[in-house]
Amino acid sequence: MNVAVLVSGRGSNLRAICAAIDAGECDATIVGVVSDRKRAAALEFAAARGIPTRTVTLRKGDDRDSWNESLADEVAALEPDLIVLAGFMRVLGPPLLQRFPGRIINVHPALLPSFPGHNGPQDALDGGVRISGCTVHIVDAGVDTGPILAQAAVPVLTEDTADTLHARIQVQEHRLLPRVIHQIATGAIALDPLTRAH
Ligand code: GRF
Repeated sequence: MNVAVLVSGRGSNLRAICAAIDAGECDATIVGVVSDRKRAAALEFAAARGIPTRTVTLRKGDDRDSWNESLADEVAALEPDLIVLAGFMRVLGPPLLQRFPGRIINVHPALLPSFPGHNGPQDALDGGVRISGCTVHIVDAGVDTGPILAQAAVPVLTEDTADTLHARIQVQEHRLLPRVIHQIATGAIALDPLTRAH
């Protein structure tokens, strides 16, 4: 299964996917990494590994519709079977969603439907929950609202800051995301019926 990975930053999830592929635990090939930021560490990692990289930036004042079209063109050129948002910090517009309906997944640092948006770990702390975690879900037009594929739980400790909680959640993300990709590749998770059901 050919996978395009969309990133904005550090790329620890991208590394985890690559490590799982190397270990024979994730039956996928990463055909390209696409970033909305030029200086994403994830891009350097991908390039060093020989994975094709593309950058489609959106600056203040840029036309968002054209950015969405360019992003969709770059991703489509990679001919992926699956698109994985691994720390991609922008909401996708219709061009990409319509070209790959139900074929885009995201990893989120909270147990959805609780705490969607950019501050999952901090919002979980503010909400006073004792358990948080991570969610892999299909991407739809909303913010972290698509059908849930898998989740992993993480305890929230009294001394946690958003950073320490996020770090503990990421340990689980790095296990869960490659596993879900593998399950999609083998057909253990069927995306199409799920998408139709919603
Ligand atoms: C992850 O915690 C993910 O849940 C969120 O963004 C973060 C990306 O981390 N969507 P990294 O770039 O993979 O290290």
